Amino acid sequence: MKLTSRSVSLVPIVSTVAAAALGATLVVTATANAATTLGAAAAQSGRYYGTAVAAGKLGDSTYVNILNTEFNMVTAENEMKWDATEPNRGQFTYSSGDRILNQAVSNGKRVRGHALLWHQQEPGWAQRMEGSDLRQAMLNHVTQVATHYRGKIYAWDVVNEAFADGGSGGRRDSNLQRTGNDWIEAAFRAARAADPAAKLCYNDYNTDGINAKSTGVYNMVRDFKSRGVPIDCVGFQAHLTNNAPSDMRANLQRFADLGVDVQITELDIAGANQANAYAAVTKACLAVTRCTGITVWGIRDTDSWRRGENPLLFTGSGAKKPAYNAVLDALNAGGPGPTTTTTTTTTSNDPGPGDCTASVSLNQWGEGFVATVKVTAGSSALRGWRVTTTLSNGTVTNSWGANRSGTSGTVNWTNVDYNGSVPAGQSTEFGFQGAGSGSGLNPTCAAS
Ligand code: XIL
Repeated sequence: MKLTSRSVSLVPIVSTVAAAALGATLVVTATANAATTLGAAAAQSGRYYGTAVAAGKLGDSTYVNILNTEFNMVTAENEMKWDATEPNRGQFTYSSGDRILNQAVSNGKRVRGHALLWHQQEPGWAQRMEGSDLRQAMLNHVTQVATHYRGKIYAWDVVNEAFADGGSGGRRDSNLQRTGNDWIEAAFRAARAADPAAKLCYNDYNTDGINAKSTGVYNMVRDFKSRGVPIDCVGFQAHLTNNAPSDMRANLQRFADLGVDVQITELDIAGANQANAYAAVTKACLAVTRCTGITVWGIRDTDSWRRGENPLLFTGSGAKKPAYNAVLDALNAGGPGPTTTTTTTTTSNDPGPGDCTASVSLNQWGEGFVATVKVTAGSSALRGWRVTTTLSNGTVTNSWGANRSGTSGTVNWTNVDYNGSVPAGQSTEFGFQGAGSGSGLNPTCAAS
């Protein structure tokens, strides 16, 4: 029999910075002796380990045995998509989706709903629509499907893959997008009204590291949070080859810092370095407190939509691959959370008219950090701002939401087009990732 030991210690440490200071250091350690399944190993740190399931495979005993043994979260691979649930306008078919949900629930698993709106796998009738007709049909779809599954879904991918690839950081063109840029928030509001208990996620690919596309999503989530649009989580599909992005952890952390959960939602990894890359993704999630779980996109290599690339954790005959052991070991090594998370807020002098203050929230780990800087207008509106930070022992490697001059020492930041105007008393944010130490940033703000 295995002994299980688990220790959790919370050590608050106060730091003082300038006139106003708020500091906390959180150290959490969790150790548990080797769990023998992915689900149990993830559960040691309160996370889940899931897989995509195809209804057509629920009669395959090898498949179902692995599903029931290893996984405690399920995503319908295709069965809850628009073309499956509303093949004709206003006619809803839930039989395959329900089959997956019932199989999961009766075996003690939870379900991620995937996906209410996506420009792919739209039924033909919706593909042929545009404008206000489509907007109405799309919101009705969200309302109907989320109502059917009300109270049964852990998290819904409300909108899937709405951002463009490449450097624009903007939205992808689609008939959904052409109904108006507010289609995403309208969908989230409709989903919340239909199922208040489900977490509501935005889900996308090529957003796993820090890049123009993920920064576009980041800016949307930040905007939604600031305006009270109901969003609870962001899914990172993680369809990868050979490596996890080196800044995956920093990317997950910057989203988590916006106040949303993050999840790896469709993980599969091709290539010879597969096992190492799976371990790296696992560790990136475990290092982010709000990374609540990981889902792989299928069970055996032969079940994969990337079948020729053998990107999953089990062989076609159901044997565990080296990648499986790498994931299990990484999960068992623990979900320590951030080794050290320090949040420091500094505030400069009381703002007067045309003045501003800057504060920083810092997430520091051994080798790097993510800093989120909040710029707050004084008693009159800002038309532009300039922030100065000091980096004595660190270097900026990536930034978003501001123009930058320099990477270390005194670093100056100015607003970008969309966040220069800040109403009196209101705030905007920018952020950056760095190597080394982010302590002592001591931001100061001036109107420009
Ligand atoms: C894929 C399924 O795995 C395939 O069976 C189907 O033919 C196409 O869709 N991003 C997503 C998933 O959000 O829904 C996709 O799933 C894979 C890419």
